[in-house]
Amino acid sequence: MKAIILAGGSGTRLAPMTAAISKQLLPVYDKPMLYYPLSTLMMAGIRDYLIISTPRDVPLIQQLLSDGARLGIRISYAVQDAPRGIAEALIIGEAFAAGEPVCLMLGDNVFFGHKMIEPLSAACANATGATVFAYYVRDPERYGVVSFDAAGRPTSLMEKPSMPASNWAVTGVYVYDGQAASIAKSLTPSARGEIEITDLNKVYLQQGALNVVKMGRGVAWLDTGTPESMLEAAQFIHVMEARQGLKIGCIEEIALRKKFVSPSALDALVAPYGNNAYGQYVRRVAEEITEQRA
Ligand code: G1P
Repeated sequence: MKAIILAGGSGTRLAPMTAAISKQLLPVYDKPMLYYPLSTLMMAGIRDYLIISTPRDVPLIQQLLSDGARLGIRISYAVQDAPRGIAEALIIGEAFAAGEPVCLMLGDNVFFGHKMIEPLSAACANATGATVFAYYVRDPERYGVVSFDAAGRPTSLMEKPSMPASNWAVTGVYVYDGQAASIAKSLTPSARGEIEITDLNKVYLQQGALNVVKMGRGVAWLDTGTPESMLEAAQFIHVMEARQGLKIGCIEEIALRKKFVSPSALDALVAPYGNNAYGQYVRRVAEEITEQRA
């Protein structure tokens, strides 16, 4: 399975923080936001990525992640030259996906909890139609919203409805079969001039090919849409990391634990961090793995 990460958007809701840099490069506690969605996808076993961002930010993300070789993954890059919608990522990524199923993830979606990885891996392993992941929230009007019939089948999808039909928000990770790019091309832009991911998902719903996986209470889907929620997300990550002494969203740790790289490649892995606390953590993980495998 390949994955497209969309790190675009104008970020106006977070200005002035986003005046000179994209939202997905802002920190969530001790690492750039983009590390979190990338780590989720790496934990699901994905090693082939296309990152799409603005002309301004692609070079910055390249500076951060390069071609992925350090992490035992492949990263290529593409530009979305104007915010024309999430679904456009599938058109931009059409050659990358090459008619095969693909996972699309938004670069500002931060998940925590292993109960997220299993259903995501399962959806990737058997990518028929489209699979979206729903999460129960207090404020569904801020998201795409899915509603269900009595048997639990999805009945409707609405983008940011003023009167939400349920509390189930559609999160920013999607798994599509090989049809997604051609369906995206058939969509008409919405009133805000974007081709909406919700409209794409509606086509799958109408075809009876939309799978909705409800994520349980053991998963945290953290909001990063406002300054307050970004601070809360950072505090959540800090509390969890301080309590356990384990990092969340540490892409180097995941590369090691998933055996994308061997502990002998440690020097390259920690090169960007020198001997700072983050680098020391990755060294500790590598030593632990080496001992366990000895
Ligand atoms: C986008 C989608 C929305 C989805 C959300 C998840 O909204 O349009 O359907 O629920 O991502 O993060 P945006 O964050 O672009 O407003």
